[in-house]
Amino acid sequence: MTAESSVQGAGFAVHRAAAPRAPQERDRLMAQPRFGEVFTDHMARATWTAADGWGERRVEPYGPLALDPATAVLHYGQEIFEGLKAYRHADGSVWTFRPEANAARLAVSARRMALPELPVEDFLASIEALVSVDVDWVPDGPEASLYLRPVLFASEALLVVRGAQRAEYVVIASPVGPYFASGVQPVSIWIAQDLHRAGPGGTGAVKTMGNYAASLVSQNEARAHGCAQVCFLDAATARNLEELGGMNLVLVRRDGQVVTPALSGSILPGITRDAILTLLREAGHPVVEREAPLAEVLGDLASGEVTEVFACGTAAVVAPIGRLRGNGIDQQVGDGTAGPVTVAVRERLTDIQHGRAPDTHGWMHRLV
Ligand code: PLP
Ligand code: COI
Repeated sequence: MTAESSVQGAGFAVHRAAAPRAPQERDRLMAQPRFGEVFTDHMARATWTAADGWGERRVEPYGPLALDPATAVLHYGQEIFEGLKAYRHADGSVWTFRPEANAARLAVSARRMALPELPVEDFLASIEALVSVDVDWVPDGPEASLYLRPVLFASEALLVVRGAQRAEYVVIASPVGPYFASGVQPVSIWIAQDLHRAGPGGTGAVKTMGNYAASLVSQNEARAHGCAQVCFLDAATARNLEELGGMNLVLVRRDGQVVTPALSGSILPGITRDAILTLLREAGHPVVEREAPLAEVLGDLASGEVTEVFACGTAAVVAPIGRLRGNGIDQQVGDGTAGPVTVAVRERLTDIQHGRAPDTHGWMHRLV
């Protein structure tokens, strides 16, 4: 059901919901936003066919998608996605962080998964159009934002296994608070020693649904052991720490050096990771991207050579890690509280994102 229509953001035609949530209901839903539970009134969409390319760019009321049971994505997992956030600044303007990097990563993911690339300008226009229409859903507050989730999947109804001939692009939006229920308190991490999320030559370096599906048994194991997240080892040797199910990993050494697993081909190149490494370098920390062997890290934690560990990503921002656990592993990080480098880089990043500090890197992109 749509009420009025207009054209906005490079051809995204807006079909407004006839019955959007009333302001009071919206305020209630946004009062204590948890991660990814509440969605706004609209979604952005575009459709691609091999014959005609991208078309049907529109913003329409949020609602279920009708999919034929033979739809390719349901059988062969041809799906990629992104995650970015819109932040409300003190003057009421709304901004997002490095969206061109998300657009570029979506294109890399598309190539790997035999899906069509969405032009950067369509990616940006889809987000601008959706956030403009649902701008009242962008929360304010120091830890709150509107999480944007673009998804692209093969939508032809055909059981032949082949690269996409038809694809749907959808962007949904969700007002969110901290990813972890504990807020910014340190979390415990479970090391998955037997199962891997990705392997050499696989899809670990792109953002596709199968990587997350492959992480869930280990994530359940982590929860069963009282850990908030799971950290995976490289599949080739099962020796090196790679990344968490949905976040990159960073270690801080006693001498101030920062170590993070190098982008091995099975690690997602996080945009937050990249920004944080830049900010840490600017703050005078030598940054080294290399292998991070589990045995070495445990030894260095025990001896105090590694003083801080944190996870980073769009959803999690910067999450201090207080303890590493696993079969035969139980190692506290420092004194178990958030360390000073973690706290400082988190504040530096969030100050830029929320407009409390100048954006000297050109990372912020105004939406509204
Ligand atoms: N690693 C994985 C597996 C992820 O899903 C994410 C989240 O997007 C990240 C790392 C962090 O990436 P970014 O900082 O671009 O959100
Ligand atoms: C993100 O940080 O945007 C992600 O996609 C990670 C996911 C675990 C929520």
